[in-house]
Amino acid sequence: MSVVYHESTQTFHLTNGLISYIMKVLPNGALGQLYFGRAIRDRESFDHLLEMRRRPMTSCVFEDNGLFSLEHTRQEYPSYGSTDYRRPAVQILQPNGSRITDFVVLSHTVTPGKPALEGLPATYCEADSEAETLTVRLRDELLGVSLDLHYTLFADRPALARSARIVNEGTLDLHLTHAMSLCLDLPDSGYEFVHFSGAWARERWMKVRRLEQGTQSVESARGHSSHNHNPFIMLRRPGTDEDQGEVIGLSLIYSGNFLAQAEVDTWDTTRVTLGINPFGFDWKLPPGEAFQTPEAVVVYSCRGLNAMSQAFHRLYRSRLARGQWRDRPRPILINNWEATYFGFTQDKLLEIAGAARADGAELFVLDDGWFGARQNDFAGLGDWTPNRDRLPDGLSGLARRVNDLGMQFGLWFEPEMVNKDSGLYRAHPDWIIHVPDRRESQGRNQYVLDFSRPEVVDCIYDQMAKLLAEANISYVKWDMNRSITEPFSEALPADRQGELFHRYILGVYRLYKRLTANFPHVLFESCASGGGRFDPGMLYYAPQGWVSDNSDAVERLKIQYGTSFCYPISSIGAHVSAVPNHQVRRVTPLSTRANVAYFGTFGYELDPTRLTAAEREQVREQIAFMKQYREVIQFGDFYRLRSPYDGNFTAWMAVSPDKKTALVGWYRLLSETNGPCRRVKLQGLDPGQSYTVDGGEAHYGDELMTVGLVTSDSGAGDGQSGERPICDFDSHVFVLKA
Ligand code: DGJ
Repeated sequence: MSVVYHESTQTFHLTNGLISYIMKVLPNGALGQLYFGRAIRDRESFDHLLEMRRRPMTSCVFEDNGLFSLEHTRQEYPSYGSTDYRRPAVQILQPNGSRITDFVVLSHTVTPGKPALEGLPATYCEADSEAETLTVRLRDELLGVSLDLHYTLFADRPALARSARIVNEGTLDLHLTHAMSLCLDLPDSGYEFVHFSGAWARERWMKVRRLEQGTQSVESARGHSSHNHNPFIMLRRPGTDEDQGEVIGLSLIYSGNFLAQAEVDTWDTTRVTLGINPFGFDWKLPPGEAFQTPEAVVVYSCRGLNAMSQAFHRLYRSRLARGQWRDRPRPILINNWEATYFGFTQDKLLEIAGAARADGAELFVLDDGWFGARQNDFAGLGDWTPNRDRLPDGLSGLARRVNDLGMQFGLWFEPEMVNKDSGLYRAHPDWIIHVPDRRESQGRNQYVLDFSRPEVVDCIYDQMAKLLAEANISYVKWDMNRSITEPFSEALPADRQGELFHRYILGVYRLYKRLTANFPHVLFESCASGGGRFDPGMLYYAPQGWVSDNSDAVERLKIQYGTSFCYPISSIGAHVSAVPNHQVRRVTPLSTRANVAYFGTFGYELDPTRLTAAEREQVREQIAFMKQYREVIQFGDFYRLRSPYDGNFTAWMAVSPDKKTALVGWYRLLSETNGPCRRVKLQGLDPGQSYTVDGGEAHYGDELMTVGLVTSDSGAGDGQSGERPICDFDSHVFVLKA
């Protein structure tokens, strides 16, 4: 791994044998982009890749040079207005109204390892040998503003982390209106733009469109990364599939308003920008102050989508997620939400916990409704004290009784919210995000606390910390159930209102940081009405997240499949729920509900006392199965085999790092009779190893990967004879052992 600098051509070549990232100082002193992709041999000069041409109707930077126009030059951190008309990475509003800047490379440094980003989640190293960081310093002389572009190249990973830091070293009061984390100018537009979009209960469905001249983007302006779009996109070559072809994955480690955009100009070059959404963003930067952008990670694969996903999974699982739970198999939990909603008593909770414990569950999670005056969703948020009517023994008492059953105890919070019917709101009505004297929009009858204010974060911290210190709480589910409206803070001056969204999310990170630092034994699970804030920023603090409120097994196939493109399986909260399913009313077999939920952190979201004896027996077997294989699933390599977006069948698999165990999840939506015999080609096995399938016949890895695993069942035939009758929503998890 190395960062090479060629003085004679002012060229940087970051390469680790897997990828090359090449930049060069341009004639105007800005930093230009020459190449990103598969590793190539180094050389002194890559100047031929600049490709300047004389083009009519083009504005040029220098009077005596008719070739050099920024419009036709690929750049690292461009600004708008000096011969480049595309969307910028940086824009600074100056006291005279000008937004023109001119950043010129001054110097660079290369350091081993990776420095932390102050106040922001980011990837990290545990040893300096794991990465090298290049910082290129640029400066706009007229404004006295310096710009540091950070590039971290990881050893043995096809991944590069980028961020920028802007410092006002001059004397003017400035406003940052664009400060993207990454700009990647690509020489052509022969890509498909793939994003993961949806809404509540159908998060991260894969969407594909061909890049075209013009601008295509996904974004959030809701104050959280959102159910609607995710801060992760892919640019893939047409024809690329899971196993072959070129793809670039771009991910932003951020949980607030973001923009992921691809702008294709009319010469078919592509500019990708990723970062804080400039819409509504205006950060005052007085003399002496600095602004750090969130970090973006870009991964390149020439071996298809699975290889790209695995690079993200490995990096995010082990060098973004942190803490005591990072590398530990996750406890199998039972959550009472869909079992009782708000209608529980302490006795009922203990009954659920006891039954789940008898079946093998390890963690009981008490969801919404245990605090303040919370009987329904009109009251209580903000008052984080246990409701004694419901919990006569208090939280410590309940936790103790759950512990006595032999289980850990977990608790739900929604720290960022308040109901007007609460002691907190009555004491501090100005603590909500709102515009004085204007109507305040509600969402689920609740209001968003102004986390840009340190005193608000401190108050919530004190309440939560008291409970975490008093009761034996091993797990926290941190929920967030509405978007921000009327974005305005009573604590910010007029010229800083454009900072609210970012300051809000920094406040969320501050609270997470204090809680995770002071209660390191607690496993945090992030949640936002399901997957409304499922992003890498959250993953830094909470190693797992509730991906969706939709717990139907069929719906979950698409949601979990889409989520897996960027996020590791150890981060995917997945539970078995009751039927008819509460979101879609579908009835699926208990086996299929578990077969889908295994490929996640696994748990139950139902009342086990309402199951039949036969179902309880099945649950016991499922929990025993998951205990046996969760390390393979949560920490092995995950491969998508067949897409739920493409028809009746879905398949995916997890392979242990030593390739001795593999689990293949196979799912069929609608049953068929007298259908074709079917196989699915596996991935990631050792070609020379022989694997038993479900303890029976053995086949070599090469055969399973080239000919395929036979998945035909009685659906290929009369539907009845054979090992078992078929049904709709059928599935099977094949266990392969070397
Ligand atoms: C939304 C979450 O996604 C659910 O799992 C549950 O915790 C409810 N909120 C509780 O209000």
